[in-house]
Amino acid sequence: ATIDRFQRALLTWYDAHGRDLPWRRDHDPYHVWLSEVMLQQTGVSTVIPYYEKWLAHWPTIAELAAADEDAVLKEWAGLGYYSRARNLLKTARVITNERGGQWPQDAAGLKQLPGIGDYVAGAVASIAFSQPVPAIDGNAYRVFSRLLLIDTDIRSSAAKKVFNDAITPLIPADRPGDFNQAVMDLGSSYMRAKDPDSAHSPVAAFDAAYQQGVTDQYPVKAPK
Ligand code: ADE
Repeated sequence: ATIDRFQRALLTWYDAHGRDLPWRRDHDPYHVWLSEVMLQQTGVSTVIPYYEKWLAHWPTIAELAAADEDAVLKEWAGLGYYSRARNLLKTARVITNERGGQWPQDAAGLKQLPGIGDYVAGAVASIAFSQPVPAIDGNAYRVFSRLLLIDTDIRSSAAKKVFNDAITPLIPADRPGDFNQAVMDLGSSYMRAKDPDSAHSPVAAFDAAYQQGVTDQYPVKAPK
């Protein structure tokens, strides 16, 4: 019952106040995948114009698959971590030329593709294919460490499994992608890293760290 109320509080807030972002206009796996790869190491405001220009250039994954690597790297210029762009082209070619345009629909299958790790696999599986899996980035570590008082060091090798196991039962079967994207919006607003406003968060009643006055102690991140 608490889980139901938590899900409802989060998704009701997301429906009214979630960010209107270009990659949220549809659930096309090409769009979701491209945006999540771009967003992995780059902020939302920087990504938006790159995302729009990219899709103007290559409206479909088949068109991207047919592109020259030089053109792809040129379009990527400024975003950094150029292996991301090379892997976008490689994965576009696998999907188009080896899989007849068909994406794997679950996280395990997606992780077999070049450049797709746990985070992007979870994001694409949940947003594009409605699979009930988490997408664990810095936002998710921060939000769930506070809500659930998880004191596992987020840099430790155990962290992924600890958070995965804690988050999975909270994902609503009917809206996994919205749930994950609502967590991203919460983590960039009320539950941000710097100067959070936990008191006004839509899930303040479910926020154990806030209730106990220890928000500043989460997430636990041991020095490198
Ligand atoms: N950061 C990573 N993925 C995101 C998404 N889908 N929406 C907003 N911010 C994000």
